[in-house]
Amino acid sequence: MNEIRVFAPATVANVGSGFDVLGFALSDIGDMITVRKTDDLGLHIKNIEGADNLPLDCKKNVSTVAAQALLDSYNNTLDYGFEFELVKKVSAGSGMGSSASSSAAAVMAVNELLGRPYSKTELVVFAMQGESLASGTPHADNVAPSLLGGFTLIQSYDPLRIIPLHYPKDLVATVVHPHIEVKTSDSKRILRQHIPLKTAITQWANLGGLIAGLAQENYELIGHSLKDVVAEPTRSMLIPLYEQVKEMAHKNGALGCNISGSGPSMFMLSQSLDTAHKLADELRVMYSNEQLDCDVYVSKINPDGAILL
Ligand code: HSE
Repeated sequence: MNEIRVFAPATVANVGSGFDVLGFALSDIGDMITVRKTDDLGLHIKNIEGADNLPLDCKKNVSTVAAQALLDSYNNTLDYGFEFELVKKVSAGSGMGSSASSSAAAVMAVNELLGRPYSKTELVVFAMQGESLASGTPHADNVAPSLLGGFTLIQSYDPLRIIPLHYPKDLVATVVHPHIEVKTSDSKRILRQHIPLKTAITQWANLGGLIAGLAQENYELIGHSLKDVVAEPTRSMLIPLYEQVKEMAHKNGALGCNISGSGPSMFMLSQSLDTAHKLADELRVMYSNEQLDCDVYVSKINPDGAILL
């Protein structure tokens, strides 16, 4: 096989109380990558569609940095190189796992062209190197669900231990991306480095509640447990209409609402597609009334993660 095309989905990381450890995959929206073997050794980016400001320099692009991490580990001398073409649908700085979907797609594609030496779970550690380049920290809460699908918990980073979680299959996400860019690195920098014990207790109680709620398909518990007392208080200040959106989501039947990744996107979870679409309609009206551009997505949880096309 000389050429392969891969789709890797956008993701919602943190999911309220799971800062840097929890995430889920969205359906339909994601990045696509074509990778082909070339006579030129090394990695080359031929083209990036859908984003003007992303580097073609392989040392500066998350997809090739992630792919290089895989090749460094594979450590076999190859008599060919790889050429990348990227189609970006997830906007950089949106909080929907833009760098993760490119990194996940890249490692999956190169792995296939090498004859699949690594499992999808093993690929996460390589895709994390793309995240490290993008945000300064190699977090896995976007790349794990982008590769594996569903909800994933990073139970430990050292050693890396990823737990796929059970979740109710009729859970639906509504995601709004207001068109301002928030760099993950900036959004991480503004966080408090120390949190009071009382705050930590609230957070781990909520994370436990959320995982139990997903496992037991207890929608009320999921809703109660989406609260975040660590990142949301600071980050929400960067997001236009944040409090108004939360209030609207509550009134219109969402189980809960919070920041997607490091923002500015926000997500809402609902128990039915009707509620999710109603929330989407309300969001379009709210942002348009304020002359703010936004994209709105309604998505079931993607069970598959990255796939070959
Ligand atoms: N967990 C990361 C953060 C996700 O919140 O900074 C970035 O999308």
